[in-house]
Amino acid sequence: MAVALVVAAGRGERLGSSGPKAFATLAGRPMLEWSLEALRSIPAVERVVVALPEGAERPRGTVAVRGGATRSQSVRAALAAAGPGEPDDVVIVHDAARPLAEASLFERCLAELGDADAVVAAAPVTDTIKETGVDRVVERTLDRSRLWAVQTPQVFRRAALEQALSQPDEVLDAATDDAGLVEAQGGTVLIVPAPATNLKITTPVDLELAELLLRVRRAVR
Ligand code: CTP
Ligand code: MG
Repeated sequence: MAVALVVAAGRGERLGSSGPKAFATLAGRPMLEWSLEALRSIPAVERVVVALPEGAERPRGTVAVRGGATRSQSVRAALAAAGPGEPDDVVIVHDAARPLAEASLFERCLAELGDADAVVAAAPVTDTIKETGVDRVVERTLDRSRLWAVQTPQVFRRAALEQALSQPDEVLDAATDDAGLVEAQGGTVLIVPAPATNLKITTPVDLELAELLLRVRRAVR
């Protein structure tokens, strides 16, 4: 069994919608609802905790908690609200900003955890990536065959996630994903290949693209 933490407490400044991003309308419903629908359909998920912005209403069937000042602090608040658990318990972390994550992707991540400390969904990088120094001078071209663009869901053993999140706020705030904190502590993190269509809604064009993808998905079903 697993607990799922969905972080939805961001302001969505880059999207520029009138309210918080997780509640922006996407293909007819609040963005957050797409992730909750996927999670509700997974038998192994026994509880869903949602980190919410101030004033937001608790979604049906979830445990709600007020989010923190940064994403990692919201994850930490959600984990605390999940209640006590065993070190080996399984915790899913997911961004409400990735409404296209399908139940099958969550299930593949859960199935792959095995002896690892964490599993992250990630898409193979298709662009060539160059690293620069000062003045945009290229220092090297990275080996693309080994590069992955990391997404959520990310699945953790509870002990590994708790240890990662127990660090001071400044360490947490410098991290863009929780698995990175686990890696930095010497944990084993495994990639699960995921479609690039599991995109993160950051700007208005992402919202338009997601709307199209969800409408196509609906029409196909
Ligand atoms: N998030 C959160 N608490 C925060 C900041 C972010 O729960 N204090 C969540 C967001 O709701 C989102 C995910 O973390 O689901 C990824 O963050 P991001 O895409 O940066 O969303 P926002 O912070 O809302 O957007 P922006 O940075 O443009 O303001
Ligand atoms: Mg943000």
